[in-house]
Amino acid sequence: MSPTILAIESSCDDTSAAVIKDGKILSNIVATQAVHEKYGGVVPELASRAHEQNIIPVISQALLTANITKSELNAVAFTRGPGLLGSLLVGCSFAKSFALGLHLPIIEVNHMQAHILAHFIDAPQPSFPFLCLTVSGGHTQIVLVNNHLDFEILGQTTDDAVGEAFDKSAKLLGLPYPGGPLLDKIAQSGNPDKYTFPIVNMPGYDYSFSGIKTSILNFIKNNTQVNPDFISENLPDICASIQKALIQTLMKKLVLATKETGIKEIAIAGGVSANSGLRQTMQEFALKYKWNTYVPAFQYCTDNAAMIAITAHYKYLAGEFANQYASPDPRLKLSL
Ligand code: KG4
Ligand code: ZN
Repeated sequence: MSPTILAIESSCDDTSAAVIKDGKILSNIVATQAVHEKYGGVVPELASRAHEQNIIPVISQALLTANITKSELNAVAFTRGPGLLGSLLVGCSFAKSFALGLHLPIIEVNHMQAHILAHFIDAPQPSFPFLCLTVSGGHTQIVLVNNHLDFEILGQTTDDAVGEAFDKSAKLLGLPYPGGPLLDKIAQSGNPDKYTFPIVNMPGYDYSFSGIKTSILNFIKNNTQVNPDFISENLPDICASIQKALIQTLMKKLVLATKETGIKEIAIAGGVSANSGLRQTMQEFALKYKWNTYVPAFQYCTDNAAMIAITAHYKYLAGEFANQYASPDPRLKLSL
């Protein structure tokens, strides 16, 4: 049976709901929380309060847009983790009570699996096995994907995530939160070869972004001491050079993983997969290394419930349901 599922995403600072029917997304509503901007980062308590305010309107809109009534639903899905506990609790509690009232089964979804399975929302879809570079605000992982529900982490960051490195670099440059997308935009008119930053080489397929972050901090400090207007006079070149260093770091291990596994089906996922430099580099590497590359549509890169819905679809078909004791897990791991 092909199910109709309502999916809820509330792991961080986006409240989102989607409806999927027969594996096709009918709606995907995202309410982004502007409340964090003035603090320069996500404030967990404010995030959960905003989820509380947003969740009913967002779900109502998702059902309305999909033209689906509650009685047509076969299951309710929610993000179990990883994420902020208070934020996850809102989605989880809502999903459980909504499903209980309607006598529907519930499906819990791993947010990082969902980022990867966003590739199965639309064509073209990668064939198994494929490698996915998952790059978000909290994670940086190279994942071997054997099938829709079988994932193996080959390598990951040992400290900061690359999204965090983008955001913190942007903050050091005085750009407003969330800085990653803005840094990307400014970098487009800059010279990426103007400044160089170290590419840290970790063992195996692992990453580290704390060293490059410190070197960016020192670079800005040293240069602004000499010239207080250094940032404003060179902003596009600084952004482009930082972006280049971060992308080079990502690609070095991805290339190694493709060489050692022999896999040429290569995908990227997560918020940072929206980065224009990374998307362009994927195209260049596809030609150079004869990869088939898969880059998600922009609306499925950053957090959204459509990716939760497609994951729930496959879990429904596999009979993987949760029970009313289901609870959020802020540190939920990708591999089972
Ligand atoms: O996947 P996501 O929406 O949330 C998490 O699960 O973390 O990823 C958010 C991250 C943030 O660090 C944001 O700055 C980064 O993705 N991001 C970007 C771009 N768009 C979003 N980083 C660089 N360039 C972009 N265009
Ligand atoms: Zn995410």
